[in-house]
Amino acid sequence: MYLIIFICTCLILLTILSICAQQLHELQASVLAYGKLNLHNNKKPATQWADHLSKWTVPKHYFSHFYVIGLMTAVLSIVELISLSSFSKSFFIMQLLDQYDTRIGTHHVSRQQCVVGLSLLTLHLMRRVYESFWVEKPSKTATMHVSHYLTGVGFYGAMVIGTWLEGVSNVESCRAQDSYVNMISLSAITLFLYASYHQYRCHAILSLLRQSKDQASSYFIPRGDWFEMLVTPHYFADILIYLSLNILYRFQNYILICGLIWTIVNLSVVSGETQLWYQTHFSAEKLHQAFPHGRKRIIPGLY
Ligand SMILES: NC(=O)c1ccc[n+]([C@@H]2O[C@H](COP(=O)([O-])OP(=O)(O)OC[C@H]3O[C@@H](n4cnc5c(N)ncnc54)[C@H](OP(=O)(O)O)[C@@H]3O)[C@@H](O)[C@H]2O)c1
Repeated sequence: MYLIIFICTCLILLTILSICAQQLHELQASVLAYGKLNLHNNKKPATQWADHLSKWTVPKHYFSHFYVIGLMTAVLSIVELISLSSFSKSFFIMQLLDQYDTRIGTHHVSRQQCVVGLSLLTLHLMRRVYESFWVEKPSKTATMHVSHYLTGVGFYGAMVIGTWLEGVSNVESCRAQDSYVNMISLSAITLFLYASYHQYRCHAILSLLRQSKDQASSYFIPRGDWFEMLVTPHYFADILIYLSLNILYRFQNYILICGLIWTIVNLSVVSGETQLWYQTHFSAEKLHQAFPHGRKRIIPGLY
C-alpha cells in the first residue's frame, strides 16, 4: 500500500512540476527542453542557478535505457507472478514488499487483469527496445536533462509494477474470477494494438527522414500516416496505449490512472513546444505547403 501511495504521489507531483516548468521561463530554459527542442533552444536561462542546472544533461539516445530497464522489470515481474500463482511463494519484489509494506490495497484488481496488463506492457516495452536499437536514428548530439532521464527510468519501472501490484493478493489466492475474454478486455486489447501499430509507423517515418549519414542530426517535416493530422502523432498513440490499459482495468488501477494523467499532461506540454519549434524552424510557407489545412498538436479535433 505504501508503494502504491508513493508511486501515485510521485506521478501527481511530476505532473504538477511539468505544468510549472512550462509556465516558468527559467525551468523552461534549463530543464523542460530536450532533443531538437534543446539543440535549437532560443530560451536561454537568465539566472546562474538555472544556467548550472541546464548543464546537467545526458545523451538523448539514452531513452533506450528506459525501455531496457522497463523490460528487465517486466521479466522480473513475470517470474514474480508465476512464483506467486504456481508455488504460492514470493520472489524478489514481493519479498522486499512483504518486509517493508502492507497488503492493504492489493485486492481491487483481478488476477486476469494483472496477467493481461503485464503482458501488454511487456509487448510495448519489447517493441520500444526493438525500435530504439534497430529502427530509430537518434542524433548523436541531442541531449536531455538528467531529471528527464531519472523520470523516464522511474516511470517505466513504476508502470510495470503498477500493472499487477494492486491485484497481487488475488494472483496469490488463485481464485477464479472474471473470464479472460470479455468485451471490455477485447476492446482494450484492440485499442492497444491499433495505437501500437500507428506509433510504430510514426517512429519509422521519423527514422526514414534521416536516410544518409550527413542527415544524421538534421530535422525535416514528417509526412504520412497520423502526421497528416497531428504534429506529434506518436505522443497521441502513447496516450491511447495508456488509455487502453486503463480501459482494461476499468479505471480502477490507481497507478495506471496517474500514469495516464502524467502522459497526457507531459506529452501535451512537449507537443506544444514541438509545434512552436516547427513554426520557428520552418517557414510558414513550407509548413502551409505540407499541411494546407493545418495540424492539431496532439489530440485529433481538440488541440
Ligand atoms: N509516456 C511518457 O510520459 C513519454 C514521455 C516521453 C516520450 N514518450 C514516448 O517516447 C517516444 C519518443 O519520444 P520523443 O520525445 O523522443 O520523440 P521525438 O522527440 O519526436 O523523437 C523521436 C525520434 O525521432 C527523431 N525526430 C523527431 N523529430 C524529427 C524531425 N523533425 N526530423 C527528423 N528526426 C526527428 C528524434 O531525433 P533526435 O534524436 O534528434 O531527437 C528521435 O530519434 C514517443 O513515442 C513518446 O510517445 C513517452
